[in-house]
Amino acid sequence: MNNVDPASPILLLDTGVGGLSVLGEVRKCLPDAPILFAADYAGQPYGQKTEAQVAARVAGLLGRMTERYRPRLACIACNTASTIALGMVREVLEIPIVGTVPAIKPAAENTLTGVIGLLGTAGTIRQKYVDDLESEFASGTTLLRHAAPELVDEAEAKLRGGTPDRKVLAAALNALSEQDEAMAMDQVILGCTHFPLIRDELADVAMSDLGWSPDVQFIDGAAGIARRIAHLLEGDTFERTGPDRAVTTGDVDHFFSLEPVLLSYGIDQIEQF
Ligand code: DGL
Repeated sequence: MNNVDPASPILLLDTGVGGLSVLGEVRKCLPDAPILFAADYAGQPYGQKTEAQVAARVAGLLGRMTERYRPRLACIACNTASTIALGMVREVLEIPIVGTVPAIKPAAENTLTGVIGLLGTAGTIRQKYVDDLESEFASGTTLLRHAAPELVDEAEAKLRGGTPDRKVLAAALNALSEQDEAMAMDQVILGCTHFPLIRDELADVAMSDLGWSPDVQFIDGAAGIARRIAHLLEGDTFERTGPDRAVTTGDVDHFFSLEPVLLSYGIDQIEQF
């Protein structure tokens, strides 16, 4: 047993709605855990920023949020921020920090053909962290990478009631399938937390518009992240004393357009950070 306040939340940080793909899995593992959902809209997109900008921003924000909200654990629910800043954030904060990194290990375990695609932001796909995951877990496979930052906007638009643009989705998928060896690709890693929110649309465009095989799997790491969080918090007691809260660094009216979606994830307070 430890002495954590039962009302202390799990903090999830992304630049926007991407954190919801992780939150959905965390709810399944820890339905009673209080959550603080943080969206750094003022900093979006992380994927187009330099490593130094992302690292400074994420470490600073998490430091201030940790002081204000006293979370028991923070999850960086963003592949870009995690692959750039996870080590540094762990050094400066005293609570457990869980990162979200591209699901290269599960993809390498699942693949039958040995060819894997990775869609992420430009910031993520160029990281040494990703090179290291590839050499540690996928050394016998071919990893095809493509930066598709425009899919972040498609996911944001969908969660505000819009319909993702099939042409934009097709262009991102084509950029993978036009690479050498892509004919055999049977796993596509959604290496940005926004992308699982448009997984069904991506799979549909791939099959219906581009003629990809239905055997191609679109995978992400959110379920594994949630299990990791539950494992780290084993023995904790949880008490949701009130509604869960979402905070944004950006324009709060823009954030309110997500109210119905946030409600469906059990969040009914929206505030400015
Ligand atoms: N959701 C973030 C990720 O997983 C990216 C969004 C952004 O570029 O701000 O990488």
